[in-house]
Amino acid sequence: MYLDNAATSYPKPEKVYEAVIHAMRDVGASPGRGGYRRSLEAGRILYQAREATASLFSIADSSRIIFTQNATEALNLALYGTLIAGDHVITTSMEHNSLLRPLYALRNKGVELSIVPAASDGVVAVEDIRRAMQVNTRMIAVSHVSNVCGAIQPIKPLAELCRETGALFMLDAAQSAGYLPIDVELEAIDLLAVPGHKGLLGPTGTGLLYAAPHVPLKPVTQGGTGSHSTAEEQPEVMPDGFEAGTHNMPGIAGLCAGIEFIHERGISALYQHESSLLYQAEQALINIPGITIYGPSDPSARCSVLSFTAAGVDSSLLAAELDHGFDIAVRAGLHCAPLAHRTLGTLPGGTVRLSPGWSTTSEEIAFFSDAVVQCISKIRKSA
Ligand code: ALA
Repeated sequence: MYLDNAATSYPKPEKVYEAVIHAMRDVGASPGRGGYRRSLEAGRILYQAREATASLFSIADSSRIIFTQNATEALNLALYGTLIAGDHVITTSMEHNSLLRPLYALRNKGVELSIVPAASDGVVAVEDIRRAMQVNTRMIAVSHVSNVCGAIQPIKPLAELCRETGALFMLDAAQSAGYLPIDVELEAIDLLAVPGHKGLLGPTGTGLLYAAPHVPLKPVTQGGTGSHSTAEEQPEVMPDGFEAGTHNMPGIAGLCAGIEFIHERGISALYQHESSLLYQAEQALINIPGITIYGPSDPSARCSVLSFTAAGVDSSLLAAELDHGFDIAVRAGLHCAPLAHRTLGTLPGGTVRLSPGWSTTSEEIAFFSDAVVQCISKIRKSA
C-alpha cells in the first residue's frame, strides 16, 4: 500500500503511462528542432502541456510556463534568475531544503535572508512577515502547504503585502498543486514553482515554473534553444530561452495527461477524496494512546499530508515496521525540512507522515490504522 504521495504520486492514471509510451514509441522526436512531422507532433504535445497547465492555474499566457525537471529546479531558477546581491528575501521556518538551500547559497553571495518562525502548528503570522519587511525586500517566498504537517499558509495576505511594497511573491506549490485550487491572478502570484510528479500526477523528472509577465527573470542555464541560433548570448525569449537543451518529452507528455486527468475529475473532487481519507486516518490515530498529530488542529487548515509521532516509538522504526510487516509505504524522519521539525518540536526523530492519493481507498486507510496499532505494540514490547 503506497501512502507517500507527498514524495511522488503513485500509481499514475492509466492515460499517463499511455502518453509516456506514445511520446517515446510513436513520436520520438525533439520539439522545435526540425520541420518534419515527428518534430512538429512533439511541438504540439509540448504546447498542449503548456496550455493544460495554464488552464489549471488560470495563467493567461502559457508561454510564461517553463518546464523544469522538478520543483527544486523551478525554485532555483526563480531565485537565481531574479535576485542580486543587496536584495532581501523573507521566507518561513516551514520551508523545504529545496527553497532553503539555494537561499543559504545566495546569502553567501550577498542576498539578505530573513527566516520568519511559524507558530508551533506550522502556520506563519502575516504580521510577523510584515514586521520583517525592509526597504530592500525583493521577495517573499513561501510554501503553500507544509510537506511535513500539511499546514496551509495564508498566501493571499502575503501576496497583498508584496503588491503594497513592490516585492515579488513566490509560491512553492510542491504540496498544494493538484490538491488546492491555485489562481495566479486572484492570488497575485508572481512566481509559481510546481512539481509535475506529485499532485499533478505526471512522471518523475517533471516540474515547472510560472513567471508573471512583469517578472524580469534571467535564464540560469545556457544552451541550444532551437531558435536565435546565431546569438552568442542566451535568448531571454519565453519559454525557449529558459528551456535550453532537449526537453523531457515522455515526461511532459505524461504530465499533460496527468493534468488532463485532474481537469476531468476536478480539483475539488480530488481534494474532497484525499481530505476525507486524511480525516478518517486522523480519527483512527487519535484514539491510539500516545499518538500526537502535528499541524493546525482544524483539519480544514491542513491538506495533503498527516504527520504523527507515537510516544516512546522511533518514527523511522515505526515506518520500517509498517513496510516490512504490512507492505505499507510512508515517509518518516525529517522530510528534508529540518526547520519545520524544529518549529513543530519534532527534532531530532521527526514524524511518520502519510499522504494518500487519488486512488487510495477508505479500506486501505482502515488497514493502515490497524497496522499502526500492531506495529506500535510490537515495538513497545520489544523495547
Ligand atoms: N519533498 C518531498 C517530500 O516531502 C520529496 O517527501
